[in-house]
Amino acid sequence: MTSAEIRKSFLDFFRGKGHRIVESAPVVPHDDPTLLFTNAGMNQFKDVFLGTGSREYSRAADTQKCIRVSGKHNDLEEVGRDTYHHTFFEMLGNWSFGDYSKREAIRWAWELLTEVWQLPKERLHATVFREDDEAHALWTEVTDIDPTHVHRFDEKDNFWEMGDTGPCGPCSEIHIDMTENADGGPLVNAGVAEVMEIWNLVFIQYNRDEQGTLHELPKKHVDTGMGFERICAVLQGKKSNYDTDVFTPLIHRITEVTGTPYEGEQPQVAMRVIADHVRMLTFSIADGAMPGPEGRGYVLRRILRRAARFGRTLGMRDPFLWRVVETLGDTMGTVFPEIVEHRNVIEKVIRAEEDSFNATLDRGLEIFEEIIARTRKEGTSEITGADVFRLYDTFGFPLDLTNLLAEERGMTIDSAGFDILLQEQKERSRAVARKNAAVSGMNEQADIPFETHPSFDGYSVFIGYDTLAEDVRVMGRWHDHNLLYLLFDRTPFYVESGGQTSDSGVLRWNGREAEIKGLLKVHGNTVHVVETHDGFLPVLGDVVHAAVIGRARRDTMRNHTATHLLHAALRRVLGTHVQQAGSLVEPERLRFDFSHFEKVSDEQLREIESLVNEKILEGIPVQQHRDVPFEDARTMGALMFFGDKYGDSVNVLQIGDFSMEFCGGTHVRNTAEIGLFRIISESSIASGTRRLDAVTGRGVLRFIHQLQTQLQQEKHRQEELHETIRQLEKELAKATVQQGAGALDDILAKAAPWNDSRIAVARMDVADGEQLKSLGDALREKLSSGIGLLASVIEGKVLLVCVVSDDLVKKGIKAGSLVGPLARRLGGGGGGRPHMATAGAKDTEGLDALLADAPSIIREIVER
Ligand code: ALA
Repeated sequence: MTSAEIRKSFLDFFRGKGHRIVESAPVVPHDDPTLLFTNAGMNQFKDVFLGTGSREYSRAADTQKCIRVSGKHNDLEEVGRDTYHHTFFEMLGNWSFGDYSKREAIRWAWELLTEVWQLPKERLHATVFREDDEAHALWTEVTDIDPTHVHRFDEKDNFWEMGDTGPCGPCSEIHIDMTENADGGPLVNAGVAEVMEIWNLVFIQYNRDEQGTLHELPKKHVDTGMGFERICAVLQGKKSNYDTDVFTPLIHRITEVTGTPYEGEQPQVAMRVIADHVRMLTFSIADGAMPGPEGRGYVLRRILRRAARFGRTLGMRDPFLWRVVETLGDTMGTVFPEIVEHRNVIEKVIRAEEDSFNATLDRGLEIFEEIIARTRKEGTSEITGADVFRLYDTFGFPLDLTNLLAEERGMTIDSAGFDILLQEQKERSRAVARKNAAVSGMNEQADIPFETHPSFDGYSVFIGYDTLAEDVRVMGRWHDHNLLYLLFDRTPFYVESGGQTSDSGVLRWNGREAEIKGLLKVHGNTVHVVETHDGFLPVLGDVVHAAVIGRARRDTMRNHTATHLLHAALRRVLGTHVQQAGSLVEPERLRFDFSHFEKVSDEQLREIESLVNEKILEGIPVQQHRDVPFEDARTMGALMFFGDKYGDSVNVLQIGDFSMEFCGGTHVRNTAEIGLFRIISESSIASGTRRLDAVTGRGVLRFIHQLQTQLQQEKHRQEELHETIRQLEKELAKATVQQGAGALDDILAKAAPWNDSRIAVARMDVADGEQLKSLGDALREKLSSGIGLLASVIEGKVLLVCVVSDDLVKKGIKAGSLVGPLARRLGGGGGGRPHMATAGAKDTEGLDALLADAPSIIREIVER
């Protein structure tokens, strides 16, 4: 059976048992903060098990994309070294939500394995939880398993938990014995490839809370998971998962790309690691993860660096992992089309990340060698935490990479020492962040010794969504030197949050006015800071008129709503891997940082800008859903960000069907109010993070004015430049004429004598007719008595200038009657005054011959 047939036969089997076949959930769980990656098929049903959600079916089956590289289930260290652990794998699973129980789960598992797939019964073993007598009895009751093949194990092996918290319960596993003589019973759960677990049947009946306490669930469920790659190896009679058709195309492609055969222990391990890691990277990027400096992103980075480093052992110094992605698409794209659909992005992300790592890897490896040598010299085999930290901090070596390198040298690393240094570094950056926060007055925890009004209930309500000026009552007050800190029963002032900067404005009291010097958020309430000059000293209970500067605030709202449009447009134009990485919303402009692996092209920028402006022109009503229960917001499909903290209820901003995001900021009521949107610049702020600066409304007008001023300045500059050019041209012409005039003496010297006069003929190199004419004038002056003919080819045409000295003019010789016949010989004509005439002609080829004959022709005409 091919792997595709095996997958299908599993699903068909359970469809036949009344199961709904469902889609795999994304491998990146965007809605469960307890998980970095989907680690089991049951993740998507967690709510059903906990009783907080339901489905319209009570039996389900699927193949689920899983990643186990962090948290409770982490197989990273085994990957590649053995033949049956993976960072990424498919889990075939079937579920009962309070429907069937252990009996059916066991019976059907046995039926599929031994009847449908015909696995030899003597090679199958079952394990049950130490205390689970029921499951133990069921194995012999509902199957014909060899009773000596049912084993009891304790929590470590037979109590399954999703994570530190969540659904869990006792389980029963099925192992297959592939030893030569089928005598591997004692090797069950011994961690050997010959006797491996293939299927886990979990009987979910508890929820573990944060304190570690187990709570009985209202209903009992079945959750099973079978390692797809493992069952493929078993059914295809292979010793290694990597020898099945799930992996062979990948391994083959890797041998092709690296030019190394899949032979020998070390290259085989490397290729298995690479094949595995490319799968992990491809699937997680396809589902929206990106390599980055922390959290999930850092896991991707670590995996990629690990793979790249194994590539080095195969002699690969240039990015190559990305070249395996296409093959993966060819083998799995029919089942998981997302890896084909996003192939382009996936390849680019991997390649860019490989590129940036390669640059530091060489230097890091050198340092590593130095460290090894020094450590050995010191007579120890443990690399210090400080050295490990240095490799991490300066060369981007993840801990597991250094560990791997050390192990290869028979060394160990002081990971506890490393942890301490890492902790210290985090502390340091937190301290800096705290200091910055204190300086900008935004410290959430800032405590102010307020004197409060007896009727103050602890909450100052933000009314700035709907109003910008209001009479409010002083509920809290602290007077410190010349500063007065005021807390009102409600306030229209917005305090910096979610990237939107604080409002500016004034307070009016008793005919006096004080400008807001600062706004603070203290325990969720807005504190207004003003100076007490001019006796501005309202007391508790006083009514104060609080007025936000509306113009600035409305500009800010335009920019904030536009930020949401921009975010949605980016995701549409560049792809859904785009995630907000930072945002700044001010009255003058907006700035948006987001994850993306390469420069956004001018064309893409235009497209993004146009899309945003389209939505502005459509005049879409902007809806602010306030205080929506978190779960409802999620069901609505609001875009939120993993790692962000959200309270029980949230505000959701919806712009038609174009954008829906969690947001507590202030916004325009209709996109049309934004006016116009214009991107000002695009830049990179870190590897994989881009920044856009943009303006809206008035900002666009300002931008256009600036452009116009620039254009005018440019025009002015151009005019000056043209003037300079004109001057230079004039000077050049003068110089040319002067130069030509210098040549005239020469021409005169060579002139043909004629009676008492001379006939001077020459071809000149000039830029235009004017120049030729000035030379003609000069020649005429130099000829005390005589006839001159100057010719030049200007812009592809012959130009002739003929001059006659005054004495000859008196004798009746006219330049006009000479130049005409000469020009006619070259197919042209002309004329002019007696002492100077010009003519033009087309035949430039014949010019030299004409000039050679000119003296005799002239003589002939004159003497006639
Ligand atoms: N959820 C169970 C597992 O992952 C089936 O092993």
